[in-house]
Amino acid sequence: MSNSGREDALIEKLLRNIPIFRSISETYIQQIARDVRTVHYKKGGTVFYQSDESMDLYIVLDGKLRASLFDEEGDELVLATFNKGDFFGEMSLLDGVARSATLTAEEDSALGILKRESFLQAIKQNPMIAIDLLAIVVKRLRKTDSMVESLVFFDVDERLVRLLLQIAKMQGERDSRGFYKVRKLTQKDLAARIGASREAISKALKILAIRKMVVEEDGFFLIKPDEEA
Ligand code: CMP
Repeated sequence: MSNSGREDALIEKLLRNIPIFRSISETYIQQIARDVRTVHYKKGGTVFYQSDESMDLYIVLDGKLRASLFDEEGDELVLATFNKGDFFGEMSLLDGVARSATLTAEEDSALGILKRESFLQAIKQNPMIAIDLLAIVVKRLRKTDSMVESLVFFDVDERLVRLLLQIAKMQGERDSRGFYKVRKLTQKDLAARIGASREAISKALKILAIRKMVVEEDGFFLIKPDEEA
């Protein structure tokens, strides 16, 4: 089913702000917008599972999603999160192999789906899309390298502090003593984000509280700034 005219206009507006489409003409953006089908997912909904065989590209029009791996017990490792303007699904699109990860909506989300053939056609006609796409894929690889480094070289408590500081610096909230403030995440969520068990997170939080590096207060984690750690 095609989108309504109003939806096409909205998709066009969003596409214009997406880095991989920044250098293409208005006319071509309009053409791509017509090929995009919108879908909505409720918080917790699964877009696709690791090993699924599909090859389309997904563009986040609204909301937040995450790409994860799961082990047999259902323990999760979060590889990346995607916000408005980000895209995912480029790996299967490019190499034709099954999905490398499971995609879940962290919030109610709206996605634009662009068929593989339309995207490949767009790249052929606008090679700058491929160059911008490569830059983003390389950025993701660098982030993954950094995650592998953390997993191999740092203990759970060090990984936890690094994660919390990373979130804190994005959110930018500090209390009067200069401690960063991060709204509390569940131990399960923290475990999934740093590749640790929930038990290891619980132990690490106790150690960090004793060292006064991460303190839990009124629904927040208070984190001592790294320059003083
Ligand atoms: P695809 O393999 O098609 O489906 C899962 C998607 O998750 C994948 O494409 C990427 O878009 C995304 N993904 C998988 N691994 C990573 C990673 N290490 N960093 C960022 N995104 C990833």
